[in-house]
Amino acid sequence: MRAINYNMPRAFRGAMRPLTLSDLDELWHLDLRCFVDGETYERDTFRFLLSNPNTISRQIRSIDDEMCAFGITIIESDGVGHITTIGVAPEHRRRGLARLLLHEIEKSLSAHHISTVRLEVRVSNYPAQRLYEQLGYVVIQRLLGYYSNGDDGYMMVKPL
Ligand SMILES: CC(C)(COP(=O)(O)OP(=O)(O)OC[C@H]1O[C@@H](n2cnc3c(N)ncnc32)[C@H](O)[C@@H]1OP(=O)(O)O)[C@@H](O)C(=O)NCCC(=O)NCCS
Repeated sequence: MRAINYNMPRAFRGAMRPLTLSDLDELWHLDLRCFVDGETYERDTFRFLLSNPNTISRQIRSIDDEMCAFGITIIESDGVGHITTIGVAPEHRRRGLARLLLHEIEKSLSAHHISTVRLEVRVSNYPAQRLYEQLGYVVIQRLLGYYSNGDDGYMMVKPL
């Protein structure tokens, strides 16, 4: 198996940090650019997630201080880390940013003694499925009509 590189990509100079409520507008705008399939979050949903003490989030910002990528996970009441959303700006894709975000989020979940992560992904979202598979997530269930347009999803999980 090929070794996975979790470093900040060499061609990309930037920084990673948690999201805060002060990032709300920028996050919402980037989300709109990422999810052209219509599965965008309302501003209030982001406000709820970023205000929740059980949320673990990360963003990657460019050297020009623009948000390039984001990931949000919530620790559910059953003790599972639920990746609710992850997005990378179209112009920054395929540089390892999503892989890096997930790696950092998983490290943080482990530090909170979380041993399982789960997520949902559209059956047609090939890039995201490849990303998750590369990082060790496996499909455990097909979710019929999970998305608002009736598309099916997969539930994927990973033990940490
Ligand atoms: C899915 C998404 C987050 C991936 O972000 P990214 O930063 O481009 O991904 P990475 O560069 O970290 O890619 C890591 C691995 O994922 C896989 N991958 C990512 N994009 C891919 C693509 N377009 N086609 C095939 N595999 C892809 C590859 O295995 C890749 O490793 P490699 O480049 O060494 O081959 C990004 O495409 C995106 O924001 N999509 C729209 C929002 C979305 O669908 N989010 C997920 C919802 S479940």
